[in-house]
Amino acid sequence: MIKETDFLVIGSGIAGLSFALKVAEHGKVILISKTSLDESNTKYAQGGIAAVTYEPDNYLKHVEDTLIAGDGLCNREIVEMVVREAPAQIQQLIDWGVKFDLNDKGKYDLGREGGHSEYRVLHHRDKTGEEIQNTLVEKVKNHRNIEVHENQFAVEVITQHHLGKLVKRGQKDTDCYGAYVLDLNTDQVNTFLSRVTLIATGGTGNLYDTTTNPKIATGDGIAMVFRAKGIIENMEFIQFHPTSLYNPGVKPSFLITEALRGFGAILRGPDGQKFMKKYDERGSLAPRDIVARAIDHEMKITGSDHVFLDCTHLDSKKLKDHFPNIYTKCLSLNIDITKEMIPVIPAAHYMCGGIKVDQNGCSTINHLYAVGEVSSTGLHGANRLASNSLAEAVVYADRAAKDSIQKIQDIKINKEIPEWDTKGATYTEEMVMITQNYKEVQQIMSNYVGIVRSNLRLERAMRRLEIIYKETEELYEKSILSQQLCELRNLINVGYLIIKMAQEMHESRGLHYTIDYPKKGAITEF
Ligand code: FAD
Ligand code: SIN
Repeated sequence: MIKETDFLVIGSGIAGLSFALKVAEHGKVILISKTSLDESNTKYAQGGIAAVTYEPDNYLKHVEDTLIAGDGLCNREIVEMVVREAPAQIQQLIDWGVKFDLNDKGKYDLGREGGHSEYRVLHHRDKTGEEIQNTLVEKVKNHRNIEVHENQFAVEVITQHHLGKLVKRGQKDTDCYGAYVLDLNTDQVNTFLSRVTLIATGGTGNLYDTTTNPKIATGDGIAMVFRAKGIIENMEFIQFHPTSLYNPGVKPSFLITEALRGFGAILRGPDGQKFMKKYDERGSLAPRDIVARAIDHEMKITGSDHVFLDCTHLDSKKLKDHFPNIYTKCLSLNIDITKEMIPVIPAAHYMCGGIKVDQNGCSTINHLYAVGEVSSTGLHGANRLASNSLAEAVVYADRAAKDSIQKIQDIKINKEIPEWDTKGATYTEEMVMITQNYKEVQQIMSNYVGIVRSNLRLERAMRRLEIIYKETEELYEKSILSQQLCELRNLINVGYLIIKMAQEMHESRGLHYTIDYPKKGAITEF
């Protein structure tokens, strides 16, 4: 089947949904999502969305906090742009119906998280993501120009390569014509031709065996654009959230928001002692890379498999009122957070790098935009400041929408694109071939490419990943496509990019820490 549209949106998190709503007055939109419309990383966001709202906060403070967290690798112009444009885009969310909590004076109740010098995080209790996701899904479903297709898995973006032409990485005249999409209801691969395509497929958390990300986060967009010869960057900067609930065997790991530390919760070691001041004078509210590394170190020296987050000294009514989701979840595991400490561990949480885009979300492939966690804009540098990603997504959705609306008149649908070539594949793989390799990839990445790295670990990881890569490509060539096989292939591609970029770093910076080059400042080798 071939479908044609003006705008093809791949992904139904905050990035895809808000872009779709913005362009829908200017053409037909098809929005696809690989599961149901309401499943995404966005839905699980807790802490909130960062923006300057009231004095004494100001743009300069938010800019400086972002730059400090980014450890010298943010693009200052982009940081200033996002910080200045975020309040208007948050107002847009409010106009669409998103509700943020107010205090008893009727002003927004601003939270604080690690690395922020002011209270500036707008939130909806500890369920900010759910509020945003539900509101935007409702608007999208009711929009007459938006056609929604659930259970549709984007397999590849279409370029001249599919017309038999050679495409080289970074080449200026590569064009995107849409995407091949696996219909998970019929197992057919359909052709979606579009004038403009948006990749908004989110993160890559499932590369690691402990992650806060739901199952959908398998790096599909990054892998697709990499295979289409777009430029991918900054992949070594994987953010581990310091505090996910220690609950072995349960996936994804339930997040214990950093806003709880902003509210006064304190990290303690297995012996009940505070330890963060040993590592950073900002204590439990130091930026995430520092806190995650400190916890990792404490766990290694004490041999414990978790540390604790202590809220027992906080006002219990206010605690329950502000964090009902966390209170209820912990209580369901017999942990009353008003009386007992919460066992926590770091978990893979956010991909700072991704598809390289300009200030309008344009990738290096023409007519192909990337917005949200899948993109690398220059905002986060070597480490993302908490709650900056939802803000980045809405600012870039707006910019990409404006840019594409302006350009779309000059873009034609390419009618020569062939339908997907199944190459006569008939083989249905045994699922164990996929699940075993999936687990191995997660183990390789968790043990060798985690919070602390080394040359030897990275080399080993690359060697082992290569074996799995070859096995999986062989399987892919002869198999009828399945979501599991495509996701495994994508995770392998993304793992390769992370290891390769980590190997090219001859220093420790932000989220990338290696024992071979423990200091910041690249070492010149002679
Ligand atoms: P997502 O919301 O992940 O959406 C991706 C969409 O793409 C999904 O609908 C998915 O199904 C679809 N998709 C993926 N691959 C394919 C494919 N091949 N074909 C079709 N569809 C596909 N950030 C903050 O700023 N503040 C917070 O408080 C915060 N808390 C967080 C808490 C948790 C537990 C997590 C996991 C993240 C949190 N983050 C937070 C990060 C933030 O939520 C995400 O970075 C952001 O929501 C990403 O939005 P997105 O639209 O880019 O992607
Ligand atoms: C959290 O609530 O701690 C997550 C915030 C974020 O990832 O930005």
